[in-house]
Parts: sequence; structure tokens; C-alpha cells
Amino acid sequence: EKGGFPHYMLKEIYEQPWVLENTLGGRLQEEAGEVALGLALDPLAVERVHFLACGTAAYAGWYGKYLLEILARLPAEWEVASEYRYRDPVVDGKTLAVVISQSGETIDTLEALREAKRRGARSLGVINAKGSTLTREVEDVLYIHAGPEIGVASTKAYTAMLAAMALLALWFGRARGTLAKEEAQRLIREMRKLPRLVEETLERRPLVAHIAEKYHQARDFLFLGRHVQAPTAYEGALKLKEISYIHAEAYPAGEMKHGPIALIDEHLPVVVLATRGPLYEKTLSNIQEVRARGGKVIAIATEGDEEISKLAQDVIYVPEVHPLLAPIVSVVPLQLLAYEIAVLLGRDVDQPRNLAKSVTVE
Ligand code: F6R
Repeated sequence: EKGGFPHYMLKEIYEQPWVLENTLGGRLQEEAGEVALGLALDPLAVERVHFLACGTAAYAGWYGKYLLEILARLPAEWEVASEYRYRDPVVDGKTLAVVISQSGETIDTLEALREAKRRGARSLGVINAKGSTLTREVEDVLYIHAGPEIGVASTKAYTAMLAAMALLALWFGRARGTLAKEEAQRLIREMRKLPRLVEETLERRPLVAHIAEKYHQARDFLFLGRHVQAPTAYEGALKLKEISYIHAEAYPAGEMKHGPIALIDEHLPVVVLATRGPLYEKTLSNIQEVRARGGKVIAIATEGDEEISKLAQDVIYVPEVHPLLAPIVSVVPLQLLAYEIAVLLGRDVDQPRNLAKSVTVE
């Protein structure tokens, strides 16, 4: 049932091209510059959005926040559900609580949703598991259609969640009049390319395996990224921690000089999301700061970027795509890196210690 793959996780990583096809496929209307989500929700009745989720799904919410602000000028926040449910969040009838979940059973997410609803919020679920508890408690569901995810470490559900965030931001942006038709059409054309670009990225696996070989003995890893790639950095670190048990931290790259830079020495591999985009130059100077302190840089960069190979010890090139969509492609080599390192260390990739696939206890 692993379809010839040694682990479910690897199988699911390789399923991502068709998963993206499933998530996006029937929903993109390029001609009209619209997306069809089949939601009952009135987009003009929403004045703010709270993304509520845990772990990997919460990082998808972080990405969603950026996109909603940029494309729809909609104030949006993201928060881990276990914090949200116990503070005193400011919510009213114009607040939309968006819960994001692969399993649809995560208790903290469920309780955060209930808390938001008690306070009058409208609700939407971005969910994978059909008919799960969360789907029954939200007003509207946007299924991500990733298919069953068996490996404990979430991979294909994450890329599908990111794609769903892009759909949602486009939908709001068009409805609110903040996103011009031409720009929407351009984004939709780029979204259509995603399955193929992820397919191409999967071909980097031998290089990623080589890099894993070089660094699998490291005690710690640091992951850096800015803007929409900050959540990618956090997700990369989480994947590595979960399945290899190597300590990994992530920071928005601009925060490095405010503390974590003290960690850098010749023993520390630093994975930097350095794809082309508005903050590319800033990211390059972050790489220089790491190099100046002896750190080993593994850069995720856009194909054709020669400059970066002079700065980083290792470069994993990913195909070019609209900068707002780059996280959907860039996370793939990070999933592969975590996988290859865990395998080299002899870890139980599909069943890491202390973790369960769905967390239904607090
Ligand atoms: C990470 C991982 C967890 C889940 C989290 C939320 O690989 O699997 O961090 O993302 O427990 O689970 P769902 O999405 O089922 O609510």
C-alpha cells in the first residue's frame, strides 16, 4: 500500500503534484480571473480573519495571513489554537475564524473554534478529512482534497493547505475589489503550473540526499526565511525535529541579529529560504552574516540564480514561480531533507517517537 515506496512519508511527498491538482484543479477560472469555492459565506460580511490551527497547519495559517493582507487587504491573524482558546480574543460577528486541519479531529483546534463561535465569529474549515468532527462544527468547509495522509509527519496536507490559502486570498481579493482581474489571472496561471513545478523539484532528491549525508551528524540546525518564506522555515525545522530528533530552530531571517546569531559557528548548518522576491537582497545579506561567522549555508534558491552559489556551500535550486506562491515549491526540498536525514539516522520515519497522527487529547 506504500506504492513501492519504503515509507508512507516518501510516498506522500511524491503525491504532491497530483494533490495540488486536486486542491486547485476544478476551482481555478482563469478566463474570469476568479476562483469557485462553493462557499455560502458572504465575503463582504468579513472584516477580520483569525486562522486557528496547530503545528504544521498553524504555519499554513501564517502564510494565509500574509496572503489575505496582501491580496485582499483583510486584517488577518494566525495563532496556535492552544493559546487562542485560553486568552481573551477580540471577536465579533464580522470576524471569520478559519480552522485549518488535516485530521479534522485536533482537540485544541476544535476548542478554539468553539471559543470563537461563542464570541460570535463566523466559521470556515480548511480541512482534509471528510466528515471529521471539525467539518461538522464549521459553517462552511473548503476541503483540501489531499487524500488520506498516513505518515505522522504532515507533508502533502501542508502543500495542499498552502494552495487552499492562495485560493481563499484570491476569492476574498476579487470579492473585495482589492485584486485586479489581470493580477488574479496571472496568479491563476502561476497556480496552474504548481503541480509541474513540484514534480520538477522532486527531481532534486539525489542532491538533497547528498546534502543530508554531509550534515546528518549535526546536533542543531537553523532555518531562516522572510515574508511568506518565514512559515516555510518554521515548517522545515518542525519536519526535521519530528522525524530525525535533531534540534532545529527557525527564525524570520531579520530576527537573527537579535539573538540567534550567537549560535552560529562552523558546526551549525543553516538552511536559508532565498528564492527571488521582494526581500531577496535582504536575505542575501543574512546569508553573508552567517558565512562571516563560519556557519554552513544550505540555500533554497531560484533556478538560474548564479550569485547565490558564490555565497552558500550548498544550493538546492527550485523552479521559478510567482514569489507569493514560492513556499508551495520551496517546502518540498525541506521535506526531503528531513526525510533523508531521518533515514540516515535510522529513525522510524512514519511513526516518530512520542507523536500521534491526530491529537485528540489536550
Ligand atoms: C506535523 C504534524 C502536526 C500536525 C498538528 C495538527 O508534521 O503533523 O504538527 O500538523 O498536530 O494536526 P491537524 O492538521 O490534523 O489538525
